[in-house]
Amino acid sequence: MACVASLYADRGESVYRTICSKCHQLHIAEEKLAENFFEANNTLLKLKAPTISQISRSMKEKIGDPRSDEEIQRLEVSSFIADYIIYPDKSKSVLNPKIGKCFKTMPSLKGKLTTEDIEAISNFVYDYDKKIHKKAKEEDGFFGTILKRAKGEHKTILIKATAPHCRYCKKMEKRVFSDAEVIDLLKKSFIVLHVDVSKQPLPLGLSVSMTPTFFFVFADQQSESVKTKRIPGSWSKEDFLEILKEAEKIKRKKQ
Ligand code: HEC
Repeated sequence: MACVASLYADRGESVYRTICSKCHQLHIAEEKLAENFFEANNTLLKLKAPTISQISRSMKEKIGDPRSDEEIQRLEVSSFIADYIIYPDKSKSVLNPKIGKCFKTMPSLKGKLTTEDIEAISNFVYDYDKKIHKKAKEEDGFFGTILKRAKGEHKTILIKATAPHCRYCKKMEKRVFSDAEVIDLLKKSFIVLHVDVSKQPLPLGLSVSMTPTFFFVFADQQSESVKTKRIPGSWSKEDFLEILKEAEKIKRKKQ
């Protein structure tokens, strides 16, 4: 049984990759989506379709009884998806109308998927929201630990958002982050968190449109609140030292 389930899980992911990912992204931070759909009419993110996690969540809230047996709701949701991808029709939509109105009806995928593909992708979509919650919790937990440390040591967190093929990220590693003066200042006043945005989401729902991008996270000593400052782009050693010193000043003012 476990073997069959994992077979479906892989197949679901591969159907997603080959077909659905042309239009549907998997997950985008909640606050970004809210801004995009409720304030900007999708002009901010210019999405081709709602995200899989939005769809997964809406279906679980609106189809069948969310408090009933999970396997029963899974069947109800799966049959909704199986029907929708072959016979899309906005009058069946479970999305918030404000989100739905940003899109034309999805084109039918009739003839493009086998029965097994449909079963696999339906389970993939159903399970997606759960995965996200689990992952987000783990990541919040991880970042929470770093925040605590930053407070305890009166330091500022510096998040380096990079990507594997980013030339300027590598250039900065070589020319800036290996410089003794920069290393000393970082050790003294900062906790550095390196995030490869092609593999991991950024904490605090942050997102980037280019790499490298740097974020300073200032934790308030008295409360749970944090302030962030975004510095996009590649910098020379001299300029980056100025940026770090400026962040030190901001931190001192807050204490
Ligand atoms: C060519 C682009 C495109 C592709 C490919 C595509 N979708 Fe969609 N899908 C959309 C758009 C746009 C919407 C929003 C409008 C709507 O609800 O019809 C949507 C909506 C949906 C909805 C309905 C949400 C609702 O209640 O309104 C489901 C379920 C869905 N897609 C599943 C899938 C799955 C699963 C795949 C892959 C097998 C897929 N889609 C492939 C564009 C696409």
